[in-house]
Amino acid sequence: MRTFGSRLPVGVLGASGYAGRELCALIGRHPRLGLVWATANEQHGAPVPGRDDAMRFVGTAEAPLEDAALVFSALPHGTSAGWVSQAHAVGARVIDLSADLRPGNGAAHRTTTGTTGTAPVAGIYGLPELDREAVRVAGVVANPGCYATAVLLAVLPVLATGLVAPGGTVSVCAASGVTGAGNSPRRELLFAEVTENCRAYAAGNDHRHLNEMRAVFERFGTDADLVFVPHLLPVARGILATVTIPLAEPLTDPLGFWKAHYAEEPFVEISAEPPSLRDVVHRNSARISVAAAAGVRRPTLIATVAIDNLLKGAAGQALQNANLLLGFEETMGLPA
Ligand SMILES: NC(=O)c1ccc[n+]([C@@H]2O[C@H](COP(=O)([O-])OP(=O)(O)OC[C@H]3O[C@@H](n4cnc5c(N)ncnc54)[C@H](OP(=O)(O)O)[C@@H]3O)[C@@H](O)[C@H]2O)c1
Repeated sequence: MRTFGSRLPVGVLGASGYAGRELCALIGRHPRLGLVWATANEQHGAPVPGRDDAMRFVGTAEAPLEDAALVFSALPHGTSAGWVSQAHAVGARVIDLSADLRPGNGAAHRTTTGTTGTAPVAGIYGLPELDREAVRVAGVVANPGCYATAVLLAVLPVLATGLVAPGGTVSVCAASGVTGAGNSPRRELLFAEVTENCRAYAAGNDHRHLNEMRAVFERFGTDADLVFVPHLLPVARGILATVTIPLAEPLTDPLGFWKAHYAEEPFVEISAEPPSLRDVVHRNSARISVAAAAGVRRPTLIATVAIDNLLKGAAGQALQNANLLLGFEETMGLPA
């Protein structure tokens, strides 16, 4: 393993974006990792924020990929997979925060082969609460999407035990802060458009994260539809989702069931009260509450979940995965 001092050299692709900046800050505080390069596109040449050295963003094509033992890619989807392949080809372990390598996104696997024609790679889907052991031995990790992380953590206990009603519909109403859309300027993300406002988007059940969520449903043989409607919240960060789950049979103590499922998890909290964004922002934890729905004819659960989209939904989970695949303590350098 390449090291400098006691630290492992790390590179971040797309480091000037919201997820990339969060990664650089986490790496800066991590006791076993050291940032050796960070890339940007339009912001190349600018100083990397929060550092007391003179490090500047380099263009992606100038990044010395071979200098890093671990590479995080926080590039846009469609751009990321090719660079992931190239970093992997020169011997780095890679964690991709984009959607390119996540399950259900087969088109990305086929088309993004990188500028040097490097063969595309497949990634282990890095939701530690689902696949911790696979991540420990992965060469490439596909970090889950922010909404997918929230929704899957909210439903995993019943997916894993086959309790979702066959033929039913799992329905998700979710809302994200504006950093979820990245930092490229867009008119609909201007302060005056977003503040004191809230609206749905991708309301035709076609959001990009549905693919990976459906893939996990399929993996458990869950015979249920998934309907997912995201909303834009007038806050900078955080995701709140309400997940309505039809059950095959009633569950007497849903909160106890969720608590037992996640008893050993360092970054999942089960609470009697529905979570709020303030419970989780600037933390790597998901907070979940669950209750039986009253006044309905068929057994139904309502799970509510909150995460920080930039930590448990992106950079924090990516570092959690890095800790696992490097054999470090899973919680190292992460704000619980
Ligand atoms: N934001 C979230 O909550 C979140 C959560 C989970 C996963 N993700 C995923 O993480 C990735 C980054 O998201 P983000 O929100 O941080 O996006 P972002 O703020 O838009 O940042 C994108 C980064 O990629 C660079 N970039 C853009 N186009 C490029 C190109 N053609 N070639 C090379 N570099 C390019 C940008 O550089 P310049 O700024 O210098 O142009 C910037 O560093 C995306 O794949 C996203 O889907 C984001």
